Amino acid sequence: MAKEKRKIAVLTSGGDASGMNPVIRTVTRYGIYQNLEVYGFYEGYKGLINNNFKVLDLNSVGGIIDRGGTFLYSARSEEFKRSRGFKKAIGNLKANGIDGLVVVGGDGTFRGAHELHEKGVQVIGIPATIDNDIAGTDYSIGFDTSLNVIIDLISKIRDTASSHDRIFVIEVMGRDSGLIAVNTGVACGGDYILIPEMEVDLAKVAKQIRNHRKGKRHTLIIVAEGAAKASDVASSIKIHAGHDVRVSVLGHIQRGGSPSAMDRILAAEFGSKAVDLLIEGKSDYMVGIRSMKIEVSRFEDVLKVKKGIDKDLYKLAHILSL
Ligand code: F6P
Repeated sequence: MAKEKRKIAVLTSGGDASGMNPVIRTVTRYGIYQNLEVYGFYEGYKGLINNNFKVLDLNSVGGIIDRGGTFLYSARSEEFKRSRGFKKAIGNLKANGIDGLVVVGGDGTFRGAHELHEKGVQVIGIPATIDNDIAGTDYSIGFDTSLNVIIDLISKIRDTASSHDRIFVIEVMGRDSGLIAVNTGVACGGDYILIPEMEVDLAKVAKQIRNHRKGKRHTLIIVAEGAAKASDVASSIKIHAGHDVRVSVLGHIQRGGSPSAMDRILAAEFGSKAVDLLIEGKSDYMVGIRSMKIEVSRFEDVLKVKKGIDKDLYKLAHILSL
């Protein structure tokens, strides 16, 4: 009788990010290539609790490499944080004979993954969040795609700002990180970048705008959602700079779109490395990339560090806007 194949599972959790589908595709196809059976659980840890899964084959992941979002869906599960839900999740993995798990998401996802490891589940994490605020990796899946969506949106805003000689306050996502805002500022030639990591003095910004707008047909202020509300920044500028101001909150458009080439390539590298680690019997690690090299970090080390911004890049953005 043929030896039963080892079973592993993959799930996507937390805020979705473009590139999650290429990750699922890689884990499935590379896992099958390594003679494993691959299960996909729907809606993150919620799917584990409800035993909501699909056995994935080569065709299950056909035609998804260029699709944003996650075809396994995602969710944030409060029930998983409670003992009853957590125990059900572990029981379902055991009942299905699954002894290896790849979780794709952000820091909240990895906290749950570490607890599963502590209860004997072999688990590997892949960082995927547009915020890119996960320590232990230069890039999280989804960050590059999001930036490419944002630069296209801001290019359109610049068109109309110039036509009407307006100041635009543009709010980007990032939760409590300024990484999206800083990289957006550099990539879009933002005039001001307001981030949670640096003191925000709206009156000072407005005064600078008033003093240095001469000859400019538009001013773009990039605001990280964790630093301030775009509407508050706009009100302050109206008062102090006395100029026509409009607001654009980019919102969830930043989360969609076909994954960029970089996110697809990262997905292939991260996904295959995660499967290799499971085959090697490793657990409690996150796969990442640092200085262009694939590296692994323990969940505990990743979770205890808040990833900061690149201060040199932040300074350069300011210099280039003068
Ligand atoms: O963590 C990714 C993210 O897009 C944050 O930048 C944002 O603040 C949050 O998710 C929005 O969460 P939700 O999709 O639940 O509104």
